[in-house]
Amino acid sequence: MESLRHINTLILGAGAAGLFAAIHAGGNTLVIDHARNPGEKIRISGGGRCNFTNTRTAPECFLGANPHFHKSALARYTPWDFLDLVQRHGIAWHEKTLGQLFCDGRATQIVAMLVEEARAAGATLSLETSLVKIDRDESGFHAVIERGGRRETIRAARVVVATGGKSIPKMGATGLAYRIAEQFGIAVIETRPGLVPLTFPDRFSGLSGVALPVRAQAQGPAFDEALLFTHRGLSGPAILQASSYWREGEEIRIDLAPDGQLAEALRAARRSDGRKAVTTVLAQHLPARLVNAWAAEHPLPGNMADQSDRAIDALCESLRDWRLVPAGTEGYRTAEVTLGGVSTDALSSKTMAAKAVPGLYFVGECVDVTGWLGGYNFQWAWASGFAAGTAV
Ligand code: FDA
Repeated sequence: MESLRHINTLILGAGAAGLFAAIHAGGNTLVIDHARNPGEKIRISGGGRCNFTNTRTAPECFLGANPHFHKSALARYTPWDFLDLVQRHGIAWHEKTLGQLFCDGRATQIVAMLVEEARAAGATLSLETSLVKIDRDESGFHAVIERGGRRETIRAARVVVATGGKSIPKMGATGLAYRIAEQFGIAVIETRPGLVPLTFPDRFSGLSGVALPVRAQAQGPAFDEALLFTHRGLSGPAILQASSYWREGEEIRIDLAPDGQLAEALRAARRSDGRKAVTTVLAQHLPARLVNAWAAEHPLPGNMADQSDRAIDALCESLRDWRLVPAGTEGYRTAEVTLGGVSTDALSSKTMAAKAVPGLYFVGECVDVTGWLGGYNFQWAWASGFAAGTAV
């Protein structure tokens, strides 16, 4: 026989945004998750050290159909607010680079902190629990949940959907949030993998493992970070960042000498090392394997003394404006985030509530707000979770 429980708030998903909403939702809140442990993505994030926020958080570091939607929530719960919480829990941290804050120790400290705070706020956590169905009538929501073969009907005044996106299905991503949105007539912007390696079948396998600082750009801002050649294509932070702005069939542009010093250095080498081969001199500025591969595709005849100013400028230009059309991406299997999602047109930017469905909220990655690499996505999870949690 099914049992029946009345609660204030049912939160679907015990990841970053769901746990954060639970902390602020007050008592009589139930958080369910089908995984065995809460916050699994937090645990593996930032190479196991969780890049939990970014002090440079600004609206332009996020993608979505409405570039203004996320401003309100991000202004009301800032990186400094989260840092304050981290410090109150005695979790040691450091800034790695570009405003990215990481734990000194294990990312599981962040999960433990969130679970402790949610329990202290009166929330109950039910793991290995799945949602069988959810409906709504004038009295509120009716959800049937199942744990260990036992079904229970939950009556809740409010439901917060925090089940994340589609990235890394192996870790429990299901796309449930999009199905719930569609069930309640809420538009979903087409989803695609973001912060994801770009594939170039057979093209760069000989360069696998080569890394260098570049400026990479798709149809968005340029990112000055590292590029990594892999067996299957291009990765590294610069490429992951650019990938969120890339669409099938479009080219990406890579500046292999972004410090702007290469032409000057080659002219100086023409004076001092005129007898050296161009490839030898180039290899003093770029990884030798990359130079050899480049020379195989763009012959670099003669030695340095043979190079005219025009030839040097043309070489630098080709290295600084390398245009490539990726075959595709590695997909949700490795994507750090999911672009697109629940349409922000349908949500209140103050509370994350669905405008047309009283009591229904969407937070975190399932919403059409996606951050850059570097702690921005967790900051969105905290800020949107806070907005909904304080509103329910
Ligand atoms: P999240 O995915 O965290 O949580 C969703 C929860 O819902 C999960 O616990 C899942 O089990 C549950 N769920 C899903 N479907 C369900 C269903 N049908 N029934 C019940 N439960 C269900 N970001 C960042 O800012 N800094 C970083 O260092 C990193 N690093 C990083 C590394 C890797 C490898 C990945 C894949 C991602 C990152 N990210 C990141 C991104 C970050 O992890 C992501 O943006 C947040 O976890 C999103 O938080 P949510 O709570 O929205 O979803």
